[in-house]
Amino acid sequence: MRISTHSTNFEELVDHIAEHGFCVVNDFLPEATVTALANEAQTLKQAEVMQEAGVGREHLSVLKEIRSDSIYWLNEDATTAAQRDYFEQMENLRLNLNQHLYLGLFGLESHLAVYPEGGFYKKHLDCFASQNPHKPQRKISCIVYLNQDWDMQDGGQLKLYLNETDESDKYKSLLISPLAGRAVIFLSDTFYHEVMPTYKERVSLTGWFLSRPQQ
Ligand code: OGA
Ligand code: MN
Repeated sequence: MRISTHSTNFEELVDHIAEHGFCVVNDFLPEATVTALANEAQTLKQAEVMQEAGVGREHLSVLKEIRSDSIYWLNEDATTAAQRDYFEQMENLRLNLNQHLYLGLFGLESHLAVYPEGGFYKKHLDCFASQNPHKPQRKISCIVYLNQDWDMQDGGQLKLYLNETDESDKYKSLLISPLAGRAVIFLSDTFYHEVMPTYKERVSLTGWFLSRPQQ
């Protein structure tokens, strides 16, 4: 039997999201899982099975001037042990968010992302209100970072823009370093964000919870 010694305080997490719309958690996944996922990202990169972001299954014609990461979509039906740990934790998160915030989160799509040295992702939203309501919408973004030994001067922070709709607070933002095991969770249609230029290769695992499509 596997005994989990790891626990995320979901109550605090959900409260913070209810109040602020986002949350930063420093130990979302155990260290061994983070290390294994980082190694898997390296293996996938070396096997050249990652794709340039924006030319994947969404057929977005996102240009290289906007983002410069390479991605690999995870398949929940063909997981490694570390990916199972991740999906298990994401299911805990989904159930807690649904139970307390009535978000009606349904599906999950997740990809590993590797930003090369010099990589970035310009300011964007993960979901637009104008999208087709008959298709599942991204409701919650959850980015888990897989970088050991990250320093301030390595850059690559996530810049999360707060209160974009409030003129008085327009320029308030948070700079969050992509430290191993840390997760940043936020409402996909509310928070503009960007990845600042990284001076070292930067690895993350991003998941989006989707709403149930309207009939
Ligand atoms: C994304 C994204 C941010 C990050 O993949 O949409 O904004 O910190 N990622 O990796
Ligand atoms: Mn994004």
